[in-house]
Amino acid sequence: MAERSEQLIRKAQATHCLTRQDIAELLGDADCEERLAQAADAVRQEFVGDGVHLRGLIEFSNICRQDCCYCGLRRDNRRIERYRLTPDEIVELARKAKGYGYRTVVLQSGEDPYFSVLVLCHILQRIKKMNLAITLSIGERSREEYQAFRAAGADRYLLRIETTDAELYHRYDPGMSHANRLRCLWDLRELGYEVGTGTLVGLPGQSLDSLAADVLFYQELDADMIGIGPLIPNGDTPLGEAAPGDFHLTRRMVSILRLLLPEANIPATTAMETMVPHGRELILASGANVVMPNVTEGDYRRKYALYPGKICVADTPADCRQCMQGRIAAMGRFVARDQGFRHHRKPNS
Ligand code: 5AD
Ligand code: FES
Repeated sequence: MAERSEQLIRKAQATHCLTRQDIAELLGDADCEERLAQAADAVRQEFVGDGVHLRGLIEFSNICRQDCCYCGLRRDNRRIERYRLTPDEIVELARKAKGYGYRTVVLQSGEDPYFSVLVLCHILQRIKKMNLAITLSIGERSREEYQAFRAAGADRYLLRIETTDAELYHRYDPGMSHANRLRCLWDLRELGYEVGTGTLVGLPGQSLDSLAADVLFYQELDADMIGIGPLIPNGDTPLGEAAPGDFHLTRRMVSILRLLLPEANIPATTAMETMVPHGRELILASGANVVMPNVTEGDYRRKYALYPGKICVADTPADCRQCMQGRIAAMGRFVARDQGFRHHRKPNS
């Protein structure tokens, strides 16, 4: 490992501050990966502790009005079987998630216009009565809609920026506006949501410098949660023949994020495990502190096909809950029992 990388890691661990060039250097040094993970794991322990937050993921509709070039839910994909759960089914899955011991549910879907403010707010109010924290992940909406969802009980919102490089974004998310995505994130921030965002690592043409810029953007936004995953080429999309995202580069990025945003919630994403068996444990030991097990039931799991090879499609929500509990305990960590809101605090205070 380069001596320079060791210096940078020490600086990041002590000051939680690096320049864009520093970050790009660390991302580019494959030999520093273990050392980086070790430093990130120490910072994770110091700032957010050994508790792993589990969030029950409900994939309630795979209908989408957008056409992202990497995503299996894209509008032009005729090969996917579309589905949409009814409000009663969504509320029932949340009730079951509560029964499995989850304190938070994530309601995720494509950008499905059926879920108007009226329909969705009613669902949120019903779930809120169960004393669950609610995360929404339903894409771009107007500020007024975000405000209505917040008032109806949504606590958090996940919207990956995917890349901060506007040119790349416009190339792979045709018809969408990078400026509007930024507007969404800042609106969510101002409306008092805990804001989750993140990067899709491995978009063709994405440079280390661009990934470094993403990290600085998360600091500027003061993101509460950052989810990072590698591109997994989906044969039913225009990026079907692209090279997969680099697992190790993604891992280094997770570790750097922990060093620079020490109190953030950072998930070990499903895409990491799809690429490498037990990838989520490796990422939990490299700076991450959140896992989002699937609580969607039956065939809907398979149909929510962002990318091929998705894990757990034949498992039940109870299986995933048990499985993660066991794996977390085997690492000497524990499943956190609170709702997992971000703590704004200095270490050991
Ligand atoms: N590979 C990996 N991640 C993907 N996503 C969408 N398509 C893919 C893919 N082919 C990610 C996007 C989106 C999140 C819900 O899933 O980053 O924000
Ligand atoms: Fe689904 Fe392990 S998390 S079976």
